[in-house]
Amino acid sequence: TTSTQSAGTGTGTGIDRVGVAGSGIMGTGIAELCAKSGLNVKVVVFSESSLVTAPRRLAASLDRGVAKGKLTVQERDAALGRVSFTRDLDALADRQLVIEAVKEDEQLKRELFATLDKIVEDPDAILATNTSSIPVVRLSSATRRPGHVLGMHFFNPVPVLPLVELVSSVLTDDAVSARALVFVRDVLGKKPIASPDRAGFLVNALLFPYLLSAVRMVESGLASAEVVDEGMVQGCSHPMGPLRLADLIGLDTTVSIAQAMYEEFKEPLYAPPPLLLRMVEGGLLGRKSGRGFHTYA
Ligand code: 3HC
Repeated sequence: TTSTQSAGTGTGTGIDRVGVAGSGIMGTGIAELCAKSGLNVKVVVFSESSLVTAPRRLAASLDRGVAKGKLTVQERDAALGRVSFTRDLDALADRQLVIEAVKEDEQLKRELFATLDKIVEDPDAILATNTSSIPVVRLSSATRRPGHVLGMHFFNPVPVLPLVELVSSVLTDDAVSARALVFVRDVLGKKPIASPDRAGFLVNALLFPYLLSAVRMVESGLASAEVVDEGMVQGCSHPMGPLRLADLIGLDTTVSIAQAMYEEFKEPLYAPPPLLLRMVEGGLLGRKSGRGFHTYA
């Protein structure tokens, strides 16, 4: 059922029904945002266990919003009522926008885009990717409608951070980019910027050399993670230090993004430091696994 509060029609974007493919931290965050914006949301999960954990994560985040005074109990319940979870990709057939948010694996994402291309019926539907680092054209070329594919890159935590990088590829139609901009700005209430279709786009291309330098400082034994983080929080007023931020992003994702940028530019500043690789190989993935540069309850 489409909500009576649905904002899509009102703003003329024609987007009321959104699909999210992937139910990790970003996928559920995007689903939460869309539901709070009055849109009907279907989330496709890729494992049986995610059918339990993803709704729980969504509810916990909405509860946090209530606890922080950002939304009422009624708004939380209404948002929850707009989201459904399924394992069936075919459920996305009637969507006007699908946002892909699976893990940062180019082959996996290409296959998913090829499948979405076959499933999504509306020829005007927008197929968006939340990739952090893979050039959009590589995903759009897996479809027969590359003009309708673009990057919609959200920032973690999605309910809190205002930015969305909109990435048009060399094949994206101008009208599709314009429609996505209005949707992100007026329906989702986020701050869109146009970013170039290069590995890392704009923000990660600037952020990652800094994060990786912080890892190298720890790796070289120059300072502990605590001290590096304290330096940046107290000295530069960052909300969290670089190692805590890498933990929040996920160390596996941090490695994937670094590798994608290193592959594209061959600049040592993007190369993942061995310590980071060893931590990921050892299952220390940051906040989501309970331990990274810091430990989490
Ligand atoms: N829903 C709505 N609002 C929420 C919320 C929720 N679930 N949870 C928190 N908030 C609001 C709070 O009300 C508060 O708003 P206020 O300032 O108006 O009162 C604000 O968010 C901050 O929340 P808290 O006070 O509870 O939390 P902290 O002050 O500890 O901040 C943090 C936590 C928001 C994570 C902050 O530390 C931060 O912004 N860190 C940096 C995060 C960052 O840089 N992310 C980008 C990563 S890069 C990325 O994502 C790209 C990818 O490709 C890698």
